[in-house]
Amino acid sequence: MVADAIYSCLPDPKEISPVETAPDPEDYQFLAVGFWVDKGTADQKAREYMTKIRNKKIGVFGTLGAYPDSDHANTVRERVRELLKENDIMDLFLCQGKVDPELVKMMAETMKDDPHHSMTPERRARLKEAEKHPDEDDLKNAQKVFEQIMVSLNN
Ligand SMILES: Cc1cc2nc3c(=O)[nH]c(=O)nc-3n(C[C@H](O)[C@H](O)[C@H](O)COP(=O)(O)O)c2cc1C
Repeated sequence: MVADAIYSCLPDPKEISPVETAPDPEDYQFLAVGFWVDKGTADQKAREYMTKIRNKKIGVFGTLGAYPDSDHANTVRERVRELLKENDIMDLFLCQGKVDPELVKMMAETMKDDPHHSMTPERRARLKEAEKHPDEDDLKNAQKVFEQIMVSLNN
């Protein structure tokens, strides 16, 4: 959803593809690179693609279960910036994304004695909020970030 929203506000010529079939980054002037957060960093497929990107102007976006203004989200930002450090990262947008209900159920059962992952009221509230995302505001905010990047690229 976030990728489609960003794609729709970028100027032509443009292409969009899932990470599995993403083209050689070398062939592009600008790349919008997306990921979902898995264990505190970008998911593996996105990480593998990121290692191929060098000396490019890029905009980065991702979804996560945590709140975008949390310490955890900032750690994710730092890790992703490190993965892409050979590039000019023009901005990095994060918003919440719903977490697979099966995973939530499994975590609640298997991690109930783990202080970091047990189902606290705070955690339940965060997951409930994540269920509503990405929402219309997230998509608009992602578009604003990338429209601003386009303005900077043209200056
Ligand atoms: C296996 C797994 C690991 C996850 N790890 C994290 C994590 O470390 N931090 C976090 O904030 N969210 C985590 N999440 C939540 C995902 O980031 C969230 O569900 C995702 O952004 C949804 O993206 P998608 O709909 O494109 O799959 C995890 C989800 C799964 C399924």
